[in-house]
Amino acid sequence: MERNIVIAGASSTIAKSIIQKLAHQDVNMYCLSRTDDILNKNKIHFAQTDVLKDELPTAFLPEEIHGTVYMPGTINLKPFKRFRSSDFESDWAVNVGGATRFFQWVLPKMVNNSAALMFSSVAVQTGMPFHASVAMAKGAVEGLTRALAAEYAPRIRFNALALSLTNTQMAERFINSDDKLERSKARHPLNQIGDPEDIAELAAFLLSERSRFITGQVIPVDGGLSNLKI
Ligand SMILES: NC(=O)c1ccc[n+]([C@@H]2O[C@H](COP(=O)([O-])OP(=O)(O)OC[C@H]3O[C@@H](n4cnc5c(N)ncnc54)[C@H](OP(=O)(O)O)[C@@H]3O)[C@@H](O)[C@H]2O)c1
Repeated sequence: MERNIVIAGASSTIAKSIIQKLAHQDVNMYCLSRTDDILNKNKIHFAQTDVLKDELPTAFLPEEIHGTVYMPGTINLKPFKRFRSSDFESDWAVNVGGATRFFQWVLPKMVNNSAALMFSSVAVQTGMPFHASVAMAKGAVEGLTRALAAEYAPRIRFNALALSLTNTQMAERFINSDDKLERSKARHPLNQIGDPEDIAELAAFLLSERSRFITGQVIPVDGGLSNLKI
């Protein structure tokens, strides 16, 4: 059976890996992004949209949706005393406000046994300096994941992935020298940082029927950082 999957924030590095993986399956993708670098091509439909502000184009959606992914996020790190309320508001808007708008838009078309996926951070489970704003915003994403998983069970499954530093555009400034990269790897028990390909593998699984007994989970993909001390 062909599946229809809607992805918000499709220009993100991890979203692109997910799209590549799903392209080898029987999946039609409906991709939204502010950035116009996703080509409309076979099995990929693209709408240039700011999921935070624009009217979400209902005509763009297929009649039945089998999977949804909310990808937009931020890493805005600084000492707590230097955060302004505009920082908190903007992190909240991208991570939580956008997710709320997105899921209210797609949920009416999500069919029985469909699956939704969100993205959190290792910094919710594990306290880290300078992470106050992102930890609060992603903490809300984790709460939203569990609340919607409960509200829509057994029809729709909701899960989230809690990532540590992953090699994407967002993380570039933390790994843009050999020294920074090596130090970042060394902080992880598995002595590596995340690879978008690994995240995409798990995302594709959680969007598929193969994960039909998993819902309401926040799954760490963090090289052991959140729960190992070695
Ligand atoms: N990379 C990491 O180390 C890391 C760690 C923990 C969690 N995460 C989470 O993983 C997810 C994917 O991120 P990524 O690493 O693949 O990052 P990325 O390649 O930099 O992509 C960032 C995404 O955020 C969206 N975005 C940023 N600011 C936005 C704004 N003001 N309004 C609307 N959209 C905005 C972008 O949307 P447009 O396409 O519309 O520009 C894009 O989809 C995010 O939720 C992120 O928080 C990443």
